Amino acid sequence: MSVAKKEYKRVTVKSLVEMKQNGEKISMLTSYDYSMAKIVDAAQVDVILVGDSASNVIAGHETTLPITLDQMIYHASSVVRAAKRALVIVDIPFGSYQSDSKEALRSAIRIMKESGAHAVKVEGGSEIKQSVTRILEAGIPVIGHLGLTPQSIYKFGTYTVRAKEEREAEKLKEDAKMLEELGCFGIVLEKIPAALAKEVAESVSIPIIGIGAGNGVDGQVLVVHDLLGMTHEFNPRFLRRYMNLYEDMSSAISEYVADVKSKDFPNENEQY
Ligand code: KIV
Repeated sequence: MSVAKKEYKRVTVKSLVEMKQNGEKISMLTSYDYSMAKIVDAAQVDVILVGDSASNVIAGHETTLPITLDQMIYHASSVVRAAKRALVIVDIPFGSYQSDSKEALRSAIRIMKESGAHAVKVEGGSEIKQSVTRILEAGIPVIGHLGLTPQSIYKFGTYTVRAKEEREAEKLKEDAKMLEELGCFGIVLEKIPAALAKEVAESVSIPIIGIGAGNGVDGQVLVVHDLLGMTHEFNPRFLRRYMNLYEDMSSAISEYVADVKSKDFPNENEQY
């Protein structure tokens, strides 16, 4: 059944809850810089996530662990300057909120103040309850992230599907309930069985955004470079590629090199 789409001049955390209530799916995509965020925003993506996946996609690190708070703020402020409609959420990076709730609040405040973003995202459940509470008490909207949480990759050992076992699934459901009760405005569920994600989405009133979590949730998020086919070596089952930019960009750049070498570029019309 198609749902009439309400127009939003600026998407807010309240709009996302409204979308869930109206059965309108939420679209979320990452961006890390001004030019990409301008395109993503103009395409009416509801939420732009300045993900710490910038650590992989932009900086070339193997994991999301090395990216710093200053680097996240730099990416976020570039994205905020471009986003006229989308809600902008920023990942608090690894090491900036886990040690104590005061540090968590300081990090969240720096992100909000220095980048102008609208909300922050943190990974984990009961382990970070104090930090989430403190950030929320300061009036900063928080979205949780459960399931495959890449900041804990060294605990998991691999990037395989999480919460297939009963115990981990039960903990995930409890954590989702806890995040809702604390006052988070949503939860990202990454790489978990679709049936479990659907069950969680149906059990809470806040929007559940999935990545590799099936179609029974309230919205979807992807890394924009993956969707555009720029990261051609990353091939998880959940990824739908809408372009093959890696090939298109490679051939365009090779053509440019050939034109320079052959003295075809610049021609008479391309000079002063
Ligand atoms: O950092 C990120 O891009 C994310 C999404 C994959 C959900 O957390």
